[in-house]
Amino acid sequence: MIKSVPARARRALPEARGAVKDRRLMTSHSFAAHGPLRGTIRVPGDKSISHRALMFAGLAVGQSRITGLLEGEDVLATAAAMRQLGASILRGADGKWTVHGAGVGSLLEPKTALDMGNSGTSARLLMGLIASHAITATFTGDASLSGRPMKRVIDPLMQMGASIEASPGGTLPLMLRGAQPAVPITYRLPVASAQVKSAVLLAGLNTPGITRVIEPVPTRDHTERMLTGFGARLEVGEEGGERIIAIHGEADLRPMDVTVPGDPSSAAFFMVAATLVPGSDLTIRNVGLNPTRAGLLHVLRQMGADITEVDARDVGGEPVADLKVRHAQLAGIDIDPAIAPSMIDEFPVLFVAAALASGTTRTTGLEELRVKESDRLAVMAAALKLAGARVEEHEDGLTIHGTGGDPLAGTPEGALVATRLDHRIAMSMAIAGLASRDGVRIDDTSPINTSFPTFMGLLAEAGQ
Ligand code: S3P
Repeated sequence: MIKSVPARARRALPEARGAVKDRRLMTSHSFAAHGPLRGTIRVPGDKSISHRALMFAGLAVGQSRITGLLEGEDVLATAAAMRQLGASILRGADGKWTVHGAGVGSLLEPKTALDMGNSGTSARLLMGLIASHAITATFTGDASLSGRPMKRVIDPLMQMGASIEASPGGTLPLMLRGAQPAVPITYRLPVASAQVKSAVLLAGLNTPGITRVIEPVPTRDHTERMLTGFGARLEVGEEGGERIIAIHGEADLRPMDVTVPGDPSSAAFFMVAATLVPGSDLTIRNVGLNPTRAGLLHVLRQMGADITEVDARDVGGEPVADLKVRHAQLAGIDIDPAIAPSMIDEFPVLFVAAALASGTTRTTGLEELRVKESDRLAVMAAALKLAGARVEEHEDGLTIHGTGGDPLAGTPEGALVATRLDHRIAMSMAIAGLASRDGVRIDDTSPINTSFPTFMGLLAEAGQ
């Protein structure tokens, strides 16, 4: 995978490899049955939209303001990287963020490695951004991110002319030297991945001509929506049932003010918690319901959940509503794999819902879950079994036989769950704890800060 990365930069790579470490202190915590979830909560800003708002504002010439930005570790890694690339990014005392962009084509070469922490979105999208700039950057990440596949972005970016030297297996740490000028390509996505789609489109921003991505299966479309708002010329068409997205380079982005809606992937934990715990009646305000993200809502309703949308509205070009969730007994179903991309991050908590449903829930077509922050099929199967659920693991999904609403009954001392640096495993198993006889102990809750720093506080608030 070596392609003329400069010798100076290449010498730094072994050093970066040795530097893979985790800075967080591990914090274990027990979650046990508590009273119904009631009242009104507000989940923080959408992670995908927050990353993109910082990146695109960081490329626009002039001042953008961002309201409702998610201040989780993943998004802060993107903010730090964009500063290293030349954008000025400030948080005001009112919680609003102000960004002065560096300009497409004018990114600066970072003086030190870009530390992506746990964040696959930061790593893959920023690789795309840098791939068409005449700069070299080293990307590092934590132990989880350093095991995740990057070949899926390396391949198209090398076709566009970037030089990339990755660690064995196509992983981080890696070094990327952008191409100037880069070559526009037409790229058909081999995996349903919004991150790969976005990496190619972002590389296309500073590439002369038209860069196209063909998407056989639609994935979240925040990049397309927001880039249009920032003034990029982007066309979305359809041919033979496939989506085709074309971006015109070399683009000039104009600044804009972004309001980030609440994250449906964070709301998911409370949707399931309030559904499972008897007596619950919880309103979750400001939940983003972009159709490419709303799969869990449909699936839970199919299983019998009682969730109503209140005050449907538009926030920053994205559909949003408040969700009123009341306790309901769920019934197991076979989940259509076609819905997977629109709820790809919600499967861990759906598995928890299935473990308490009556009857059997079967999922298939979920190979992608094996390359998320952890192998979410293996880790959730092990965690749920420890907590007392009946689970069978297959190559591409889980089959779960629910308790019919009885609390999960694991070991009397309570299960100790390994979360493997995966925020969504930690939060999903915390919710399983609420529906268990003996409680669930999580070995490390610190990864929750990557996407949902207020999770523990909101859980306590809703349970009071
Ligand atoms: C994301 C896309 C998804 C998702 C991730 C965020 C994004 O990954 O799992 O949490 O912001 O584009 P893939 O695109 O790799 O499926």
